[in-house]
Amino acid sequence: MKPSPSPAWFVTGTDTEVGKTFATCALLLSLRRQGYRAVGMKPVAAGTDADGRNEDVERLIAASGLAAPRELINPYLFQPPIAPHIAADEAGVTIDIGRIADAFDRLRGMADAVLVEGVGGFRVPLDRRGDVADLAQRLALPVILVVGMRLGCISHALLTVDAVAARGLTLAGWIANRIDPSMPRFEENLSALRERIDVPLFGVIPPASTPERAADCLRFSGGQGSEDRDLRGQGSEDRDLRGQKTDELAALRAGVRTENRALGFRGQRLERTDDR
Ligand SMILES: Nc1ncnc2c1ncn2[C@@H]1O[C@H](COP(=O)(O)OP(=O)(O)O)[C@@H](O)[C@H]1O
Ligand SMILES: [Mg+2]
Repeated sequence: MKPSPSPAWFVTGTDTEVGKTFATCALLLSLRRQGYRAVGMKPVAAGTDADGRNEDVERLIAASGLAAPRELINPYLFQPPIAPHIAADEAGVTIDIGRIADAFDRLRGMADAVLVEGVGGFRVPLDRRGDVADLAQRLALPVILVVGMRLGCISHALLTVDAVAARGLTLAGWIANRIDPSMPRFEENLSALRERIDVPLFGVIPPASTPERAADCLRFSGGQGSEDRDLRGQGSEDRDLRGQKTDELAALRAGVRTENRALGFRGQRLERTDDR
């Protein structure tokens, strides 16, 4: 019997600079704590430092539990920090979604779990016609939405939820990231989103956090939204989290790891150790 592919997700956000990389690092750490050798992928990155490195790529590599070739983690890297389709055009490069899909397949074959970070929001162009949504669709992955909690985020979040559904993709869950610590009526805004987004809230990440502390705030397991039948039950259980008060999430998280182990959660993987 063909072994099922490692679980993987596509991380999108309500905008650029809303904490997609930050949340992806936290998700990677969360998976690693559950025994997965999880790796982050940034298919398209724009903006490099003096050493020719991109911050997102470096942060994902640092949070990954597997040392994988850079060309698989980041097939396309452009120097100026500008919209990717413009950067590609200026570099005389065409972003080939097929090439990204090949790199992703190879990465997935090496890792126990993969988190693919998109670029900017869900409809950011990659070339004259294609965009991030096309990439997510080609990879056919469950999507995780990072909502940067600030004034105006509700509409951006709901438009993204609609756009994901319009592509026939599953929204596995969402994360509320407190990028604006002084956002007025934060709880009311969070409630408005919970009432309207019909998938689990994986957690609320506090401001001035670290990826480690953010991982503590997430209730996320390798079965969520993935095709892993054995873990489907977990997903439905997580749905009960909707409406859960933020401060209650923390109380629940200790139980989750025990629960995963009790389920024989990726038993063979729990025996492996991270090599980074
Ligand atoms: N909850 C948080 N606590 C502390 N810093 C954060 C948090 N969320 C985002 N940041 C910081 O804000 C900046 C933008 O976040 P980033 O993850 O790079 O956004 P995106 O990937 O959506 O462009 C980064 O410097 C990141 O470290
Ligand atoms: Mg990023």
